[in-house]
Amino acid sequence: MFTFLVNYYLYSPFITEKTTNMSLRLGDIAPNFQADTTIGHIDFHEYLGNGWGILFSHPADYTPVCTTELGRTAQLAEEFAKRNTKVLAVSVDDVSSHKSWIGDINETQHVNVQFPIIGDEERKVATLYDMIHPNASETATVRSLFIIGPDKKIKLIITYPASTGRNFVEVLRVLDSLQLSAQYSVATPADWKEGEDVIVSLAVSTEDAVKKFEKGVKVVKPYLRYTPQPNK
Ligand code: BEZ
Repeated sequence: MFTFLVNYYLYSPFITEKTTNMSLRLGDIAPNFQADTTIGHIDFHEYLGNGWGILFSHPADYTPVCTTELGRTAQLAEEFAKRNTKVLAVSVDDVSSHKSWIGDINETQHVNVQFPIIGDEERKVATLYDMIHPNASETATVRSLFIIGPDKKIKLIITYPASTGRNFVEVLRVLDSLQLSAQYSVATPADWKEGEDVIVSLAVSTEDAVKKFEKGVKVVKPYLRYTPQPNK
């Protein structure tokens, strides 16, 4: 305690970065909220229903990288639907701004944006999900993305800077991996892609794995065992 106090008084004047206590972690329940969106007023948990969800923030409407990101999301609508996943975007702009911007997204990205964009001018959602990182920008949301499971727990958190558009193929890849490991006792190796061999979960003994995975188990090490993707 004494050392802590000495360090605090010695060093605190030099710490100029703003800090926040709010932080969500994997496995936490995704906080619920009600909000106005481009498709009407929603209750987040009700809107997700029993499926998967993706909530992602962008810094601002009428900005170039964001325009491509929301266009890409619209382009992948069928892929998200196949995975029983609803997508919601959010920024601190209001719904009327989002609605006019959608015209530009549709025009320039050749899409038809149908997923909701949340109007968060009061920063309710941005604060709940810690999407404003004051040392990056005082006012704009960073590019945060949360994958939420049917149990409403957070399964993935990624944060990109304003200058880098996200890789939505990677988002789908993680979703596939999460859905696979939710259904089978498997994990996915580095750079895994749909259709490639997966890893037998550490919780399963090799003896049980051989019975469980009828397509076969390749034992490289007692802790590193592969099996063909079970649902292919
Ligand atoms: C963009 O979407 O292009 C962008 C938004 C905010 C800051 C920088 C870039």
